Amino acid sequence: MRITMVGTGYVGLVTGTCFSNLGNDVTCLDIDPKKIEKLNNGISPIYEPGLDEMIQRNHKAGRLHFTTDAKTAYQTAELIFICVGTPSDEKGHADLKYVLAAASDVGKAIESAPGPTGGDPEDRRAKIVVVKSTVPVGTNAKVRDAIAAQTSKPFKMASNPEFLKEGAAINDFMKPDRVVVGVDDLEGTGGRMRQLYEPFVRNGHPIYIMDIPSAEMVKYAANAMLATKISFINEIANLCEAYGSNVDEVWRGMTSDARIGNKFLYPGLGYGGSCFPKDTLACVSMGTESNTPTPLLAAVHDVNQQQRLNFYDKIVKHFGGETNLSGKTFAIWGLAFKPGTDDVREAPALTLAQKLTAAGATVKAHDPVAHETTHDVLGDTITYHEMYDTLDGASALIICTDWPEFKQPNFVEVRTRLTDPVIFDGRNLYKPALMQEEGFTYHSVGRNPVNAVNAEAVKAAG
Ligand SMILES: NC(=O)c1ccc[n+]([C@@H]2O[C@H](COP(=O)([O-])OP(=O)(O)OC[C@H]3O[C@@H](n4cnc5c(N)ncnc54)[C@H](O)[C@@H]3O)[C@@H](O)[C@H]2O)c1
Repeated sequence: MRITMVGTGYVGLVTGTCFSNLGNDVTCLDIDPKKIEKLNNGISPIYEPGLDEMIQRNHKAGRLHFTTDAKTAYQTAELIFICVGTPSDEKGHADLKYVLAAASDVGKAIESAPGPTGGDPEDRRAKIVVVKSTVPVGTNAKVRDAIAAQTSKPFKMASNPEFLKEGAAINDFMKPDRVVVGVDDLEGTGGRMRQLYEPFVRNGHPIYIMDIPSAEMVKYAANAMLATKISFINEIANLCEAYGSNVDEVWRGMTSDARIGNKFLYPGLGYGGSCFPKDTLACVSMGTESNTPTPLLAAVHDVNQQQRLNFYDKIVKHFGGETNLSGKTFAIWGLAFKPGTDDVREAPALTLAQKLTAAGATVKAHDPVAHETTHDVLGDTITYHEMYDTLDGASALIICTDWPEFKQPNFVEVRTRLTDPVIFDGRNLYKPALMQEEGFTYHSVGRNPVNAVNAEAVKAAG
């Protein structure tokens, strides 16, 4: 099939590359010429494991193209996937300006394309415009109107929310748990979408074809559920801290109940990234707009935002007040909102770094892949280093992302290079008892802090 992906971000680029990998002829379109130039030189503008190789192979094979030429990209496509960003606006609504701008351009391109002159809405050659961006219920109808305002020629609409996870995006897309497609006509558009996705579900996983408003809601319901799990376990972790329980033990006892399960219930700094925060807020604003309050989801968001501030308070408390942070240096390990990605949107590490520098501290940070993306946001307000070099002169190490290489570091080197043997672990990577043995004062989430036992003696012994 001839496919155009609109937007070469984490979703459009991965899904477009995967479609081309199965033999489809795919054009990835973006308004950012720098991204397109990089891609035409075989360089991915985002970090995603395995993506560079897949892009280069399919680009070389002539079935994966990159362009800023919207008109041609739209006119030649049978299927157009809108994968542009839908960030929160200042009121927490999903901002649809990129989606609707793309829709208007699609309409103009359809109107000026040679081919069917319109009138036959059942035309099998009619393009399908697929909204893959996460959008509030009713957006597909707005996209349809925005296209129809520019053309009287036939086109079809489909909603196809995306469930890939950054860091595992290729595997998630190639072997999805399920594919969700919303259409108006089950046979025509539904059949063409099923044909596109059938090679991805040879593992027997389902393709659910449903009405468009339900498909739009599935994505929000799924993300709101996942966000709720994280805020839930963080709230329990905070209670554990207050009452001296250990959240690891509570987790084990609680999750052995099959009705609860043990997935996605890890306490920490809360969720970040470009999806859970904005999608939870978008659910809340859908509730407000429809006069259907969603107090649970509003609380999920509030708990999440508070969680990173609670962690900052632990740092403040340890040093005896915020004013005492001034002039101190802190090492941060992990900037990305989760391992496996360079995405720092809504990352807790950035909030902590901003609060520390605002308090007059110096921040030395390390992330395996996210220095450039962090620099785009924080610039030179913090400095960027190799992992162990962050520790020199630092009063504490703060761990914000559970990258695998942070799980078993050389603790002797960590302890000897830090000025004070103090770790604030926002991802519960280590056992408190081990940290105490290693001579650290160790703060984590939902577990009692431990103090360095004879830290000076351990340090002196090397
Ligand atoms: N990132 C994820 O893990 C993920 C997962 C599932 C769903 N989603 C959803 O998918 C959508 C895209 O997310 P993302 O993270 O890929 O976004 P992104 O910000 O990484 O990429 C969006 C891209 O669209 C481009 N763009 C904007 N307007 C355009 C236009 N008119 N024509 C062509 N290109 C245009 C931008 O330049 C940018 O490169 C969002 O709605 C998001 O909620 C994201």
